[in-house]
Order: sequence, then structure tokens, then C-alpha cells
Amino acid sequence: MTLRAASEAAVPDRTVAPAVAPRVPVHVGVIMDGNGRWATSRKLPRVEGHRRGVEALRRCVRAAREIGIRFLTIYSFSSENWSRPPGEVTELMRLLKLFLRHDLAELNSAHVRVKVIGERQGLAPDIRALLDDAEALTCGNGGLTLVVAFNYGSRQEIAAAVSRIAADVAAGRLKPQDVDVEMISQRLETAGIPDPDLIVRTSGEQRLSNFLLWQAAYSEFVFLPIYWPDFDKAALLSAIDEYARRDRRFGGVTARPGP
Ligand code: IPE
Ligand code: IPE
Ligand code: MG
Repeated sequence: MTLRAASEAAVPDRTVAPAVAPRVPVHVGVIMDGNGRWATSRKLPRVEGHRRGVEALRRCVRAAREIGIRFLTIYSFSSENWSRPPGEVTELMRLLKLFLRHDLAELNSAHVRVKVIGERQGLAPDIRALLDDAEALTCGNGGLTLVVAFNYGSRQEIAAAVSRIAADVAAGRLKPQDVDVEMISQRLETAGIPDPDLIVRTSGEQRLSNFLLWQAAYSEFVFLPIYWPDFDKAALLSAIDEYARRDRRFGGVTARPGP
């Protein structure tokens, strides 16, 4: 069986050359799910699950750095999460602020570059300022890129990109026939970031919930049967182990002998 690093996959224009061991995905997306059920199963309020989820996030970032992952995208708050009870939304906002205020200096000294994707308009001014500051402080860092998907929805992201392209066509700056896959990729908020090699979702749910729909065209998916607050390095390693056993073909022929 031949195992290939993501860097060797047949998509040369959408990947970066990673300085990591073979079989380690360059870009991992994480759908941090199951906080509420973790808490409810312990007869705790749902928000307690979110609080414990922040600790799992810290473990996840640390593990990603140790493993040599170059890009880690964490799904923190979806465009659709506004439909939750107001108290829960308030707590999720408070926890994001707490995470940025408490962890930013440490992330910066660990050379982590923070990038935020998602709609920033409509967020409270203090949250916007924290997100802007986190990006500005860390933009020159060369270690792990931590992509924080906050108030993020992939359909909204694609619609915004299409709208910008349509405006350019209407203004005569672009011709309709110039619009291609690469152009759309470069107009998304993830422009310049390689597509995720691996997407991990905790809690047992097997869906994307509006996360990186375009970018996940050839991602491998691993669904872990644990709730997010229980996530740790061993869980991440198990997902990577599963990833390493997959045969990524990108529409081509198998690299591995048949059964
Ligand atoms: C993930 O946990 C956190 C966010 C979506 C912000 P959930 O809150 O979705 O937990 P479950 O899925 O209800 O258990
Ligand atoms: C996805 O989880 C969003 C985040 C993890 C931030 P949800 O819990 O919101 O997704 P659904 O509602 O189960 O699809
Ligand atoms: Mg959920």
C-alpha cells in the first residue's frame, strides 16, 4: 500500500510544500461538536459543555503544533448558531472573547498565525476588535495557521464571492468566460489556504453543517464518537491514523493494489 502525503497529491496549485512528516495532513478542519450533549449527559447546563470545550480547543491547538499540522481550521460559531437561545449565544460570544484575551499572547509566542473567516459585520464591536487585533498581532508568524471560523457559513461565503465576481463582470473588469474554479477559490475567505486534507467532526454527527463546502471537495472525513470536551491529542492522532490509511485518488486511479 502506498501512502501519500497531502503535499504529493495531484492538486499542485492548491497545496503548499509542507515541512512535515509524510502522512500528516497539511490542513485539518475540525467541527467541534457535542458540547451540549456532553453537559446534558452529566446533568449540567449546556454552557458548561462550551466552557469545557475551550479546554479541548487548547489541547487541539497544542497537539496540532506538536504533530506538525500547518493549518488548523476550527468551526467555532456558524451563521446558523444565532438561532440558539440568547443566553447560550451570549456565553459562546463571551468564551470567544475569553479565549482571545487569555490565549493570544501564548499563541503568538508559539508562532501561531491567527486568521479569522466568517462575517464580521453584525458582530459586537469588542469582538470585532479582538478578532482584528489577533490577526494583526500574529500576521507575521510562520508556525501553525489557526483559522477561526466564527459567524461562518460556507454558502454565505460562496454567495459573497459570486456577488463580487458578478460586480466585476457588470463593471467590465471581468469576462464571464474568465470565471473558473481557481478564481472562485481565490475569492473565498480561505484564499491562499490549501484545501483541507482532513475534516474531523466529533459527537458522532456525520454532516458538514455549512462548513467549507467548496474547499472540502476532496477532503477526507473522520467522524469521532466522542463529544468535543473529551477531545485530546490521542483523538487527533487516531483521526490522522485513519486519514493515513485512506487512498486519496482525486478522481484518478488507485495507488493501492485492489482487494
Ligand atoms: C458545539 O457543540 C459548539 C457549537 C456549535 C458552538 P453543540 O453546542 O452543538 O453541542 P450539541 O451538538 O448540542 O451536543
Ligand atoms: C456545527 O455544529 C457548528 C459548529 C460546530 C460551530 P452544530 O451543532 O451547529 O450543527 P448541527 O445543527 O448539528 O448541524
Ligand atoms: Mg451540535
